[in-house]
Amino acid sequence: MSTIIKNGTVVTADLTYPADVRIEDGVITEIGPDLSGDKTLDATGCYVMPGGIDPHTHLEMPFMGTYSSDDFESGTRAALSGGTTMVVDFCLPSPGQGLMDALTMWDNKTGKAGCDYSFHMAITWWGEEVWRQMADTVDRGITSFKHFMAYKGALMVDDDEMFSSFQRCAELGALPLVHAENGDVVAQMTQKLLDAGNSGPEAHAYSRPPEVEGEATNRAIMIADMAGVPLYVVHVSCEQSHEAIRRARQKGMRVFGEPLIQHLTLDESEYQNPDWDYAARRVMSPPFRNKAHQDSLWAGLASGSLQVVATDHCAFTTAQKRTGIGNFARIPNGTGGLEDRMPVLWTRGVATGRLTPNEFVAVTSTNIAKILGLYPKKGAVLVGADADLVVWDPARRKTISAATQQSAIDYNVFEGISVEGLPRFVLTRGHVAVSEDALDVRQGHGRFVPREAKNPVNRAFSQWKAITAPRQVERTGIPASGV
Ligand code: URP
Ligand code: ZN
Ligand code: ZN
Ligand code: ZN
Repeated sequence: MSTIIKNGTVVTADLTYPADVRIEDGVITEIGPDLSGDKTLDATGCYVMPGGIDPHTHLEMPFMGTYSSDDFESGTRAALSGGTTMVVDFCLPSPGQGLMDALTMWDNKTGKAGCDYSFHMAITWWGEEVWRQMADTVDRGITSFKHFMAYKGALMVDDDEMFSSFQRCAELGALPLVHAENGDVVAQMTQKLLDAGNSGPEAHAYSRPPEVEGEATNRAIMIADMAGVPLYVVHVSCEQSHEAIRRARQKGMRVFGEPLIQHLTLDESEYQNPDWDYAARRVMSPPFRNKAHQDSLWAGLASGSLQVVATDHCAFTTAQKRTGIGNFARIPNGTGGLEDRMPVLWTRGVATGRLTPNEFVAVTSTNIAKILGLYPKKGAVLVGADADLVVWDPARRKTISAATQQSAIDYNVFEGISVEGLPRFVLTRGHVAVSEDALDVRQGHGRFVPREAKNPVNRAFSQWKAITAPRQVERTGIPASGV
């Protein structure tokens, strides 16, 4: 049984050309002119692109006394309907819990996944057991480790723990990730604001200004450099953090930056809305910033100093958000975006000329696959690659609305945005999960995708670090002691 995607234009991170694509047994088996097979998908007027990969989601995540409301069923359905064919979620051990034990819990969440997935492992505490199980984690095909520099008293690790973990990542050829905000300063700022009676959702943003993020990004970059390991900074929201990444990259450091579609398109004025629910639904960390920060993020994507666009999809219902009435610090942090990342980025990025279609593919898929060690199984339109594909129709339009979304929550932070550019078909390992408005998402179709450690960038950087490491001076004579 072969499926042919016919009459489309293949768009990859580096090429644009007319071709048909043959799919058999879930993989791409031929790319070329005039193909025919058992089943045809008409891609006339469309771009045939690698399906999106979202490198940052929190499905059914235990957080701030509750669980995020999209699980691997609704989350992957939302992903597929928006053109995303793989998600990378976070396994979060509780303090004292073994990494393998946490992984068993996270494995148990994924039975209904409709698309392929992987995990990052979070380092939420430190000890010999964690050090040891980091190797087991890599053996299980999980080669990236997340560190929270914020959420003091919960997920946060200090510099000492982070440096130890980064050195372990260097040994294992793994990639450390950071949530970069100065958690000590945020904790005190939060208390000060609350003491002054500033308890509304806008104070969440006041408690963590861009400087708080910029400082932590610089600190994480320094610690990664001392450990001789590349670094991936999640949810880069501001110029201060972007500037640190840009500067590090210009010095030859291997640092990657991930802006979110939310920070690219929604700004801090959202928190000034007089409707408490409206503002609280937009509470996430880091918070939305002003237009100048947004311009910086867009420029980073265009120039290559920022490499990938994610969602940090962590969806809480209005009822869950209301836990924080009277105390913004209790509003569960997080927003959705899985279904909307690709159409909103296309509309605000490609349709405006800020990004080319090839750059769109790079930042939504190919760069992510390369950085995380998934390429070319994922992120590519190549013979032998998984048939995770989106047939993208630049002429399809809709207005984003919670009333028609796949996510389980009761609102959408992109409500009312008109998008131009939507999937016509979405394929997950060859299975057609989306045909325009019709969904055929199969629960349990999604598989765990193991990843390889010792990425070429890790290997090159550790070699360079070994060559340039400080050396003991070989002395010719040792002076007699005393004078
Ligand atoms: O507010 C956010 N970003 N919630 C999800 C957890 C995290 O920090 O990534
Ligand atoms: Zn975070
Ligand atoms: Zn996150
Ligand atoms: Zn099928």
